[in-house]
Amino acid sequence: MAVTVARSVLLSELLSRAAGRTVHLVDRERLAAECRRSDQPLYTAYRDVHRRQVTNVANPPTTWRGDRVHYAGGLLPTGEPVRSVGHWNPPGQIEVFQVLAGRVVILVARPDEPDHLSIAEYREGEMCVVPLNAFHLTYSPWQDSVVYNIYSSGGGWPPPDHTRKYDGEAAPPHTLIFTAGQARAEQATVTPEPAQVDRVPLTADGLDLPARLPSLLVDASDEQLRELAATFNTAPAVDRA
Ligand SMILES: [Fe+2]
Repeated sequence: MAVTVARSVLLSELLSRAAGRTVHLVDRERLAAECRRSDQPLYTAYRDVHRRQVTNVANPPTTWRGDRVHYAGGLLPTGEPVRSVGHWNPPGQIEVFQVLAGRVVILVARPDEPDHLSIAEYREGEMCVVPLNAFHLTYSPWQDSVVYNIYSSGGGWPPPDHTRKYDGEAAPPHTLIFTAGQARAEQATVTPEPAQVDRVPLTADGLDLPARLPSLLVDASDEQLRELAATFNTAPAVDRA
């Protein structure tokens, strides 16, 4: 049975990770000064809301986990939206997000495609299928939002300590800025501007997923989860967008 662990992340933690150069922020010095005056909560993550282990014939078992993250909404003093830390998924890991409440923008950078960036908006009920091995980061510019995600073990994942997933390679040099007072994804600018910015959601077309993602790790059979993994491995999401 999964043991859910809740942890809140403050702006000061995001800043400390940016100092380690694995996170890029809009005007880090100004944001640090603002934070010294007043720190603020960004999100609370509930890890291991669901957990399943699925046996495989020729390979080690696959561990599936489900997390739920409650984001504050709005903009940081620099114009960057409230956000997650962001990280590169480990090789072979499958990950799907679904917005349970609110509205977010998920930034996805694809491996080996530095000039291509996805910054699509996802509303309640919509899913984001992360391409294999990609970087992803969630923004909550508008209001409080709740996002659930499933992910599979892969490449030594999951580590025993959740915070270690942020200790990998440096983030791609992309951040979003929203025009003051007009927090709309269409008006986001990207610094530096990559050659190709894709605003089309990375949908779950072709995947056998339930309408409500949190039910998957509760109701799906082992065979259904094996088939889901096989679909990813034979038709990576990077080709499905
Ligand atoms: Fe991830």
